[in-house]
Parts: sequence; structure tokens; C-alpha cells
Amino acid sequence: MPTRTTTAVTHYHVQKTRRAKFIEDWRANHRDVVPADDVVLQDSARGSQIGVYVGADGDRPTRTMDALVHEFAPGARTTVHRHSWDAMVFVVAGWGWTEIDGERIDWGPGDSLHLPAWAWHRSGNDGSETARYLTFSSEPLMDTMGMSVLEDAGDAAVESLPGRPAYTPGFPGDDPYARRTRRIAREQESRRSGRLHTSWDDLEMLNTPRGTRTTFLLDRAIGYQASGITMAMFEIGPGRGQSMHRHPGEAWLYVVEGSGHSYMGTEPEGGEEHPWKKGDLIVVDHFLWHQHFNDDPEKTAKVVRIHMFDSLLETMRALADPLVLFEEPPEHIRDKQAGDPQSITWPTLERPTWP
Ligand SMILES: [Fe+2]
Ligand SMILES: [Fe+2]
Repeated sequence: MPTRTTTAVTHYHVQKTRRAKFIEDWRANHRDVVPADDVVLQDSARGSQIGVYVGADGDRPTRTMDALVHEFAPGARTTVHRHSWDAMVFVVAGWGWTEIDGERIDWGPGDSLHLPAWAWHRSGNDGSETARYLTFSSEPLMDTMGMSVLEDAGDAAVESLPGRPAYTPGFPGDDPYARRTRRIAREQESRRSGRLHTSWDDLEMLNTPRGTRTTFLLDRAIGYQASGITMAMFEIGPGRGQSMHRHPGEAWLYVVEGSGHSYMGTEPEGGEEHPWKKGDLIVVDHFLWHQHFNDDPEKTAKVVRIHMFDSLLETMRALADPLVLFEEPPEHIRDKQAGDPQSITWPTLERPTWP
């Protein structure tokens, strides 16, 4: 006799409960500022010390990007590894090197690097002072799709390791399969030939209309081929603020130099103020109004901004249209911080220091 199991719960109710719980759980992950002191560095199997600003392995889960810090003692050299996600590096102290698919890049404080998906890489420090860098990766996003893969090859020489996943250059013809092979091959070709390094010495900061000056560190505008993560640096004039806005999370702001506070709130007024200082990570992880202020009346503040704009946020904008995902507050609030940027005397651009 056939048996039949019934849960007596409809598809509609299962989904409704699951969706409500997902957001409820996610709200518990809200962060505003992660102080540098809250990031504990631990010896790792890679040969470097690693700490987590935000990310699952530091019990501060994220959905799209994570932020980690790595330290390399003098003489340190990590294992070589590769993974299905890409990462951006921002150096804050020391002079070291990173080998990407066998190509050695020497770096110093303020330099940035791109570690492309599936590229073998390792880092080391031949100098006499500790080197320190931050990494921002797309692993959480890969993880949401079950596509996170990591392979550690210990001390192997890169020549002995397999290259990046092979791909078919493309079949001729106009059928959908031929078109797909060619389209994907073209994409891979360009993804595998992007820029890898920006030196601090080459940065050129440009004034914006609102009390800051900015430059790209890693972005497609300057030849990088990343997963959509982009990294820029902005400097806020003494006592000035960036203009208020809101957009979907996640965006990280690493404080390179200076101290100030950030406004965050569900409305443009009446929210909370969160103080920050050098070495902290300002976390914009929900759709909140926010604005960053430099509280020092004499010195500028420098902040590195990382977000996943070109892929995920563009997709969200397309899928949510006509909902507006990037908003500015009413004019009387937006223009409060207006001031002539030409009146700010910018200091010479010195390489960052830590601590
Ligand atoms: Fe890595
Ligand atoms: Fe923002």
C-alpha cells in the first residue's frame, strides 16, 4: 500500500518563513566601525599572520566581500595558493613582494595589487621590518553560489603547478554553442591580461566639488580586470565631510590616516555617529544613509574605499529598476557640507605608516 508524507505546510508558507528568517539573521550581522584593536592576528598555516576585519572566519559574516589583514615578519615567505575568487591588496607597512603566476612584484606602503582568480600567488618579506597589508576578496559572493575553491600547494615552484583552468578558444559559426564558446573565450582573454600593480608613487589625487580629493587605486578605468571590486582612495580636508548618500551594502572604508566619525541612519537625520581612527574599518553593510567626517581641524584624513560596483551592484540596479539604489538626501542636507575645495591646502602625499 502506497504511503504518503505530508508536512501540511504549503510551499508559500515555507518560503515566507525562510525569507523572513534570512533577513532577521542578516540584521544581526550589522557592523558600523571595526576598530583595529578588535582584529586579532594569528599565526597561520600559510606562514603569515592573519586577522579578520569582516568575514566568516572572524565570525563577522558578509555577503559579497571580506576584509582581512596579513602580516609578514622579516624573512617570512608564504605558501603558494590559488582560488576561484579574486582579491585586492592594499599595503600599509613594510617592503615586501608578491609573486603572481611566477611574476614577482615588489611593493611598499600605499601600493596596491590585484590577485586575479585562479592565479597562483605567494608573498614574502626580505626586509628587516614587519610588512602588513589588507586584502579585500570576492570569496563571500562566490560562496553564496557554492563556487569557492581554494588550493594550497605549499612550497611548490610555480613552474611545476598547473596553469589557470583551460578554455576552448571558440568554434566558428553562428549557432548558440559556437557563440558561447567565443564569448567566454574573449572574456577570459581580457580577464587574464589585466593590470596587477599600482605604485603609491604614481598616484595623482584630484579635487572633487565636495571637500575631498580622490584617486583610483584598482579599477577598470586604469586597466584592471577584477570581479567588480574596485578600490579608490579619498582624502577629506580638515574639518570637512564627504556628501551624504545611501546605497546597498557592502562598502568598506579603511582609514589610512586621520580620525573622524561617520553618520549612519535609516533617515538622513536622527541616526547614529560612529567615531573612527587610523587602522579602523568603516563598514557600510546595509542600505543606510551615511556620511564620513574628518574631525581634525588641521590635518586631512585618508580613506581607502572598496566596493563591488561593476558586477554585483550593477546587477542589483538592473534587477531592482525602477527602485533607486543610489540616493542623495534632500538638498538642504546634501549641501550642508559644500565648501570651496580650492580653499583646502593639501599636504604632500606621504606613503602610509603603521602603527
Ligand atoms: Fe590568496
Ligand atoms: Fe557610500
